[in-house]
Amino acid sequence: MTQPAVAQKREVWSGRSVFIMAAIGSAVGLGNIWRFPYIAYENGGGAFLIPYLVALLTAGIPLLFVDYAIGHKFRGSPPLAFRRLGRGSEFVGWWQVLICFVIGVYYAVIVAWAIRYTFFSVTEAWGADPEGFFLEDFLRVDGESSFGLSFVPGVAWPLLLVWVVTLTVLVLGVQRGIGNASRIFVPLLLVLFLALVVRALMLDGASAGLDAFFTPNWSALTDTGVWIAAYAQIFFSLSVAFGIMLTYSSYLKRRTNLTGSGLVVGFSNSSFEVLAGIGVFSALGFMAQAQGVAVDEVVASGIGLAFIAFPTIVSEMPGGPIFGVLFFGSLVFAGFTSMISIIQVTVSAFQDKTGLGKGSAVLIIGGAAAITSLLLFPTTTGLNTLDVVDRFANQFGVVGVAFTAVVVIAWILRRLPLLRTHLNAVSSFKVGMAWYVFVGVITPLVLAYMLFSEIRDRISEGYGGLPDDLVLAFGWAVQGAAIVLAIALSFIPWRRGVDTEYEEEELRETTKAESGENL
Ligand code: ALA
Repeated sequence: MTQPAVAQKREVWSGRSVFIMAAIGSAVGLGNIWRFPYIAYENGGGAFLIPYLVALLTAGIPLLFVDYAIGHKFRGSPPLAFRRLGRGSEFVGWWQVLICFVIGVYYAVIVAWAIRYTFFSVTEAWGADPEGFFLEDFLRVDGESSFGLSFVPGVAWPLLLVWVVTLTVLVLGVQRGIGNASRIFVPLLLVLFLALVVRALMLDGASAGLDAFFTPNWSALTDTGVWIAAYAQIFFSLSVAFGIMLTYSSYLKRRTNLTGSGLVVGFSNSSFEVLAGIGVFSALGFMAQAQGVAVDEVVASGIGLAFIAFPTIVSEMPGGPIFGVLFFGSLVFAGFTSMISIIQVTVSAFQDKTGLGKGSAVLIIGGAAAITSLLLFPTTTGLNTLDVVDRFANQFGVVGVAFTAVVVIAWILRRLPLLRTHLNAVSSFKVGMAWYVFVGVITPLVLAYMLFSEIRDRISEGYGGLPDDLVLAFGWAVQGAAIVLAIALSFIPWRRGVDTEYEEEELRETTKAESGENL
């Protein structure tokens, strides 16, 4: 037999706690702070917590276990792990990698905006008109053209900074880079955000905001749209089914309690989400009272919530600059640890496929992502481009690949029993038959419905009133290209020795286990 030409020793986390910290860092991101509060409010308020919890238990955590089992058992980035899971399924892994590439290039931009806004908060640089400041002075939005490439330096330099920091962390490696960054940023985020929530709860009008947020609208529970919103929130927020958790778990030591870790990560992420809802709605309650209007007139979501509503709140409250620094600082830390995890998926896949060292892989793939990001988004049409890419990447890319992955794993390759055996062999919380039903039946049905309704709506309505050419280029074409490229990449040969390396490792482990050696 030929010896492995480019044998690679996989990096490992030093222990389970650092893995959990990194996984929480990945899960807790922009989705938790700016997406959850609005989604919950729009979809039944307090009553939304029921579909949300059901989605967490029937799809989020079960899929997290799938990701952990595949990554840990097959010890590879998504394409390698899927290749080892079953021939012909490698393209699913590449599809996940390409989605991470696409998400990474715009996710960095939002972190860059948040960095600028942390500093803007100190002087309340937006003055009396936060909306005009954000769109015109800061982003220099050009409402006319679809593809304007006039450069906006005020966005470009913080974006460059985000990429330099991200890629530096990745070059330092899994434990020294990602592990240490997570150990610093996740606790820091928690402290900043708790301080923000406590301050927000003390504001006049906070209780009206909380009332608006938590008052249950029980009739929402009969609306399928509300249930779909709950599942969609869980997928993005937990970072499941697009390669991240799979990649992170591939760096775990052999004997690691997988399901126990998954439960900690899943519930921590959701707790943070509810905390964000409390903080954001207390602040919105204050804003409504200050403006003498009802809370529903001031609620906003996503970019509008963070970069228009929050600056308004900062300007209206006593001690606003500190509140602004807490809010935007939290966005930076939350976004940054997610960003690292997203780009690590692409780097790890490239390394696995080519056998290149970490430095070169980060430079080539991370560099390509950084350049794409720097060319597309610090421009006068960057905001619209970002909006389209984000929508399609989440509602089409993530949902599409998650659906394909569960169908391939559960129905085509029929690997759920193998994965369950693996989970139960190493974990404290044992996975039962219900897991098959959640992963094999409920999740694909929900995902198929989500995908179908999204495709139908986008075809009939376009997106957000944005120009069709923009939606075509950055929505449909990008997502279509990801699928084609994923298939093409799965035909490119692997570095030599990639299969023997795994077989030899498996054999060593089996021998150790049979001789009773504690792993
Ligand atoms: N899970 C990450 C977020 O919520 C991607 O933003």
